[in-house]
Amino acid sequence: MESLISLVNKLQRACTALGDHGEESALPTLWDALPSIAVVGGQSSGKSSVLESIVGKDFLPRGSGIVTRRPLVLQLHRIDDGREYAEFMHQPRKKYTDFAAVRKEIADETDRETGGGRSKQISSVPIYLSIYSPNVVNLTLIDLPGLTKVAVEGQPDSIVQDIENMVRSFIEKPNCIILAISPANQDLATSDAIKISREVDPKGDRTFGVLTKIDLMDKGTDAVDILEGRAYKLQFPWIGVVNRSQADINKNTDMIAARRREREYFANTPEYKHLTQRMGSEHLGKMLSKHLEQVIKSRIPGLQSLINKTIIELETELSRLGKPVATDAGGKLYMIMEISRVFDGIFKEHLDGTRSGGDKI
Ligand code: GDP
Ligand code: NA
Ligand code: MG
Repeated sequence: MESLISLVNKLQRACTALGDHGEESALPTLWDALPSIAVVGGQSSGKSSVLESIVGKDFLPRGSGIVTRRPLVLQLHRIDDGREYAEFMHQPRKKYTDFAAVRKEIADETDRETGGGRSKQISSVPIYLSIYSPNVVNLTLIDLPGLTKVAVEGQPDSIVQDIENMVRSFIEKPNCIILAISPANQDLATSDAIKISREVDPKGDRTFGVLTKIDLMDKGTDAVDILEGRAYKLQFPWIGVVNRSQADINKNTDMIAARRREREYFANTPEYKHLTQRMGSEHLGKMLSKHLEQVIKSRIPGLQSLINKTIIELETELSRLGKPVATDAGGKLYMIMEISRVFDGIFKEHLDGTRSGGDKI
């Protein structure tokens, strides 16, 4: 049986490809209801580093200022046939094996939508990137612009609020799992990630706290109280990570070596030794994949009724357009309706599998 995460991935892509972001369509509602994981944090908190460690590849644009200016929906697919490549939804026939070219295309595609140049606007229209690799777990992560307190030169003052609003619009959805990134070398009381996630998820039911830069904490201080759940407690245990430093990046330290070093860091530091099993990027990726699958599973009944509702709404819209449906819009609606029907059937299979208890996804 196909994994639930990859099913939801397809549905998410179909909604975006076929919907034209029109308010009248039922598709945005369906998109919003699909479980996803969004990454939030202040600028330079280590968001890109965490994503790259989970993927095990360098592929995100870097630089100072606001680099991430559109949501990046990152769909990870584990394959074991030795290949490793990436694909963008906006370039369906192109396979990337050079991840530096992936980075460039993310930057170029960001500029295509936002105007590029010095204006540095943001846009909530997502870029979809799929990565196929033996080094990933099945997982979907949405990278969002970093929260910031001041606009930098060339950016309108409104950008601070615009970014916050965009981030909030993603993480306020009840089916959004929040990956809140905070640097350990700053006071957590001032963490942008914690502040905004508490606002939309006060009980911490769907927030995972990630503590980066543990290696950069002042001598004599450590993060044990947080990692053991005595300080800044969330429903889920905090996960500490050690990403590559700027010097590592400059030296081109590869990600797989960095993951190994991270493991060694936790295993060999007396304060963290006993926590090694639940620290680090690799553990984070596996844990999120499992969690996302569980969340999707628990939402199947709700998703099914929403899909049925979507089908009915699309049928109404189609009949309003009149038959024969020759227009582009009609064709798209017809397609999503058909896709929704297929998903309804597949979800039902998963649900039956769960009920009979014999389901191995
Ligand atoms: P973003 O703006 O949130 O995406 O942050 P980046 O991932 O670009 O990280 C900002 C800077 O912090 C980069 O120079 C990273 O190398 C560095 N960095 C991130 N995480 C860590 C970490 O765990 N340890 C160390 N030493 N440096 C880190
Ligand atoms: Na950031
Ligand atoms: Mg970044």
